[in-house]
Amino acid sequence: MRVLFVTKILNMTEAADQTCNDGINGSITTFHLFPGSVLALVRSRIASGVQIAGLLWVLSAIGICVADDSLRQGEYLLHLGGCIGCHTTDRMLAGGRPIESPFGTFYSPNITSDPEYGIGAWSDEEFVGALREGTSPAGRHYFPAFPYTTYTRMTRNDMLALKAYIMSLPPSTRQNSPHDIPWYVTPDWMMAYWKWRNFKPGAYIGSPAESPEWNRGAYLANALGHCGECHTPRNLFGATRRELHLAGSRWGVTMGERKNIVPNITPDPDTGIGSWERSDVIRLLMTGQRPDGAYTSGRMIEFLGAGFLHMTEPDRNALVTYLLTLPPIYHDVEFYNQPFSDPGYHE
Ligand code: HEC
Ligand code: HEC
Repeated sequence: MRVLFVTKILNMTEAADQTCNDGINGSITTFHLFPGSVLALVRSRIASGVQIAGLLWVLSAIGICVADDSLRQGEYLLHLGGCIGCHTTDRMLAGGRPIESPFGTFYSPNITSDPEYGIGAWSDEEFVGALREGTSPAGRHYFPAFPYTTYTRMTRNDMLALKAYIMSLPPSTRQNSPHDIPWYVTPDWMMAYWKWRNFKPGAYIGSPAESPEWNRGAYLANALGHCGECHTPRNLFGATRRELHLAGSRWGVTMGERKNIVPNITPDPDTGIGSWERSDVIRLLMTGQRPDGAYTSGRMIEFLGAGFLHMTEPDRNALVTYLLTLPPIYHDVEFYNQPFSDPGYHE
C-alpha cells in the first residue's frame, strides 16, 4: 500500500532565531543582495577557497528571520527550492537571469507580487498549476529550464506557503525578457509532447517501508532541492535518466573548476561519495568544504548559498540519511580521456 507522506510544519533552527534576536532583521534586503554577490565572486574566478568559506560563513550567519511566523515556512521553502538564485538578477525574484542549456538560453520571468509584470494577479490554482503541471495560466507548457519536473512532487500546502510568502514581498515592474532558443524548441506542441514522454506530475508519494526521516530526506532532495536536475545525467531529449539517479553527469552546465562535471553523489565507493563519512557530507552541506579540504565550487556553492546552508538540523540529517542509503551506482564522470567503451561511462 502506498501512503501519502505529509510534511511537518517546519521549525527554524535555534541559530536562526538567535540571529533574529541579535537584531539582524530585514532579511529581504540581505537575500536581495546575496545571489548576486555569490555569482560575482564565483564568476570573477579570483575566488579562493578561503574567500568562499568566508562568504559562506557570512551567509549562514545572516540566517532566516521574518517578522511573521506564518510566513516562515514559505521563506524557508523559497530558499530550499532555489527559487531566488534563478529568478534574481538584481531585484529579488524579478527575473531576467540567463539559464544556459543545450537547448538555448532561457531567461527567468518576474515572479514578484506585481499584478502586471509579476504573478501578483494569479489565483492559488494558477500557481499550483505552474508548479504541479508545468502549465501557465494561459495553458502554455513551460520549458523544463523551470524545474517543475522536481517541484511537482511538493505538497499543495508547501506550494501555497511559497505563494503566500512571495506575495508578501515587494513587487517589481521588471519586464520579462524573451528566451533565446532555436525555432525547433519554440512550438508549444513540442513541449506538450516532451511532457507527455518525460514528465509525470504528482506530489511525492512516501515509501512506507522507510522511516519518516528518510522520507523527509527524499522530499528535500527530489521535491525541493532538485539535486537530480544537476546530478542526474540526461538523455538526448533533456530528460533525466532514472536508472542513473544522482550518479553524476559530464555534460552539466556549471561554472565550477571542473568544467561541466557534476559529481556522482550516490554512495558508490569508487566513483561516488561512498568513501565519505556521514560527517563529511554534513560538513559539505554546512560549509561547502569537501573531505580533501578543498571547497566545492560553481553551481553547487551557489546552490548552497541560496538555500541549503540554511537547512534546519533535522532536515540536514534527513537529507544525509537519504543520500547515504541510495543504491550505489558505478558511474565515472571524471574520466575525460577515457574511451567511450569504458564501462563506467553510460551517457
Ligand atoms: C533553474 C532555474 C529555476 C529555478 C530553480 C526556479 N525557476 Fe521558476 N522559472 C524558471 C524559468 C526559466 C521559467 C520560465 C519557463 C518558461 O518560460 O517556459 C520559470 C517560470 C516560473 C513561473 C511561471 C512564471 C510566469 O510568468 O509564467 C513560476 C510561477 C516560477 N517559475 C516559480 C518558481 C518557484 C516558486 C521556484 C522555487 C520553488 C522556481 N520558480 C525555481 C527558472 C527557474
Ligand atoms: C545547480 C546544480 C546543482 C544542484 C541543484 C545540486 N548540486 Fe551538488 N554539485 C553541483 C556541482 C557542479 C558540483 C561540483 C562542484 C565542483 O566541481 O567543485 C556539486 C557537488 C556536490 C557534492 C560534492 C561531491 C564531490 O565529489 O565533490 C555533493 C555531496 C553534492 N553536490 C550534493 C548535492 C545535493 C545533496 C543536492 C540537492 C540537495 C545538490 N548537490 C544539488 C551542482 C549541483
